[in-house]
Amino acid sequence: LQRPAEDGFIRNRWYAAALARDIDRKPIQTWVLGEPVVLFRRQSGELAALRDRCAHRHAPLSLGTLIGDEIQCRYHGFQFDATGRCTKIPGEKAIPGTVRVQAVPVIEALGFVWIWPGEPSRVDESLLPDFPLTETPGFASYHVATLVEAPFELIVDNLMDLTHVHFVHRILGVGNLIHESEPMRTWEEGDRVLYSRDLKQARHEGTDSFVQIGGTFIPPSIVITSGVPKRDGSDEIQPGPVSQVLHCLTPKTARSTNYLAVKCWNLADRPHEVAAVHHQVDVTLAEDKEIIEAQYNNRCVAASLPEERLIRADRAAVMARRVNDRILRFERETKTESPGAPAVEAPVNDLSQ
Ligand code: FES
Ligand SMILES: [Fe+2]
Repeated sequence: LQRPAEDGFIRNRWYAAALARDIDRKPIQTWVLGEPVVLFRRQSGELAALRDRCAHRHAPLSLGTLIGDEIQCRYHGFQFDATGRCTKIPGEKAIPGTVRVQAVPVIEALGFVWIWPGEPSRVDESLLPDFPLTETPGFASYHVATLVEAPFELIVDNLMDLTHVHFVHRILGVGNLIHESEPMRTWEEGDRVLYSRDLKQARHEGTDSFVQIGGTFIPPSIVITSGVPKRDGSDEIQPGPVSQVLHCLTPKTARSTNYLAVKCWNLADRPHEVAAVHHQVDVTLAEDKEIIEAQYNNRCVAASLPEERLIRADRAAVMARRVNDRILRFERETKTESPGAPAVEAPVNDLSQ
């Protein structure tokens, strides 16, 4: 049996698995940390998540149909409730208790479906990211999802260093000389890594405020980026355009990532700008996907990779890697039960695989 390459993941965290609006009464398959999961809603609207593998002969339950609050396997019709208990085996009277599929802790928040691939006894709702702008009056939200054929770490790198913006992004970036702005400040707060940069050349017309961009890494694979108007000598946010993006980089496998994001900005009452922002987000995401996939592909074809030559701007990304290594070590040392997937020693964050 070949070991999956997915064992270098931190498991005891929430991972955004789907956009909440996409989950309804039709079972949907999604992948998290190399494992398929089936998502559906009960008649009450409450979410259910099960490992997407029938207890009988391992067909994906996501091919099946819902009967009330139960999912019927498409292959031989076994039925399972939302806790994974088998409730019906066609042609059999008795149902052995061993016939069950594993339920996965699931929660709906911020317009996403989050699942917890780790130990159910460690589920901790306080580990969901705090991101109040999706509920803040006067702010519009735009949720998007795309698949990136690259490990999530390369996307975290991309978001923790915005010096690429001018070069990669045709709408957002041109003239955004982030790489020439004031030096980036980086710091840690608990498990989080933060950076910020003052774009003093990007002044808001008719005011003395400038754009301050920033990022917060929430381990293992969430980044919040923001742009807010600031003024010299004041910490307060000044009047003007504010935007924040919550980027959730959920490993589908060790080599691919479901990139789910929501952008919030304070122009909700200006519909023509809403359409323009949606367009900008779509284009920006596609541009990041293109460069990151090309970068990853280039790393994969090399028989042996020369070391990266990092610069000052890479500091926050490197700090984020260290936080993840630390959490992963802790998780391995304190493991108390099997989360349902084999845990083996694997190289930490080895991106060459
Ligand atoms: S594989 Fe699901 S019922 Fe047989
Ligand atoms: Fe980008």
